[in-house]
Amino acid sequence: MGEIGKGGGEAGTVGEALKEGVRILGEAGVKEALRDAGLLLSEAASLPLYVILTERNLALPAGALARFRNAILRRAAGEPVQYITGKKEFMSLTFKIRPGVLVPRPETEILAEEAISILRERQPRVFTDGAGAEFTVVDVGTGSGAIGVSVAYYVPNVKVIATDLDHLALEVARENAVLHRVLERMTFLRGDLLDPVSSPVDMILANLPYIGEEEMNHLVREVRDFEPKTALLGGRTGVELIERLIDQAPSRLVQGGWLLLEVGRGQASRICSYVRGTNGLEVVRLLKDLTGIDRVLVIRKTGRGADVVE
Ligand SMILES: C[S@@+](CC[C@H](N)C(=O)[O-])C[C@H]1O[C@@H](n2cnc3c(N)ncnc32)[C@H](O)[C@@H]1O
Repeated sequence: MGEIGKGGGEAGTVGEALKEGVRILGEAGVKEALRDAGLLLSEAASLPLYVILTERNLALPAGALARFRNAILRRAAGEPVQYITGKKEFMSLTFKIRPGVLVPRPETEILAEEAISILRERQPRVFTDGAGAEFTVVDVGTGSGAIGVSVAYYVPNVKVIATDLDHLALEVARENAVLHRVLERMTFLRGDLLDPVSSPVDMILANLPYIGEEEMNHLVREVRDFEPKTALLGGRTGVELIERLIDQAPSRLVQGGWLLLEVGRGQASRICSYVRGTNGLEVVRLLKDLTGIDRVLVIRKTGRGADVVE
């Protein structure tokens, strides 16, 4: 393993540090060595990424090199960049992330965007008809709060209940609600799936764990060794937790209410069949991710006379 800054004094330049960081990460088998080294140096030096990538002769601020060295060693050992920097962009918002809480994934933005679009489309009618009525949305298994906080941020007058089994996840989700100034419209409840939710809600959103036991053995080390198993393992085949949520949903949704589920590769058709076999629910559309995988199921509680979300 090399030594960043060796021979160049403690200060060093952006270019020297970056080059050495890329070399160490490359030797450690990190695929996106330049991207990761750039992000880590940007964080360590408190400089924007474009400065890191374009101003190679710039002297590093005091202390940056030591922070960068530490970060590079963590990354070389397999730790995801987001746990080292403590943040991740999601829906154009910066979320705080801590080891022990799942790093939000880009494909989850499909679910968040769809939820926001459904809620926004229906909101004007609610305001004219409904004397300030508000939607209540549940984000089941909120993790960092990525989905729930984004929905609260982009849809005014929505209330969000965020649930999770994990204390740390709820703590981080709450911090993100504070960061994005939506805390007063959010509630955080610990418990299994929809158990903590008593009255019917307008929309249920869930990116639950959906990896099966066998597949867990084949995950890349960044995920397998560093991300929480409780955020990944969805049961023996992977879909068990999602199916349990589908069982609970009809009794927790208003008529016409929505259930949006993120699912894993190859799971959509099995879960669609499960929904078809569930009284009162109907799959209204499937959304693909950028690689063409059916990623999000949009489901409605059927029946006329929808009270809020018709
Ligand atoms: C795949 S992560 C998703 C986190 C976040 N929603 C996101 O999209 O980034 C799943 C989350 O569900 C939580 N979880 C796992 N089993 C649960 C259960 N039975 N009830 C509630 N939450 C659960 C985990 O702790 C984890 O935070």
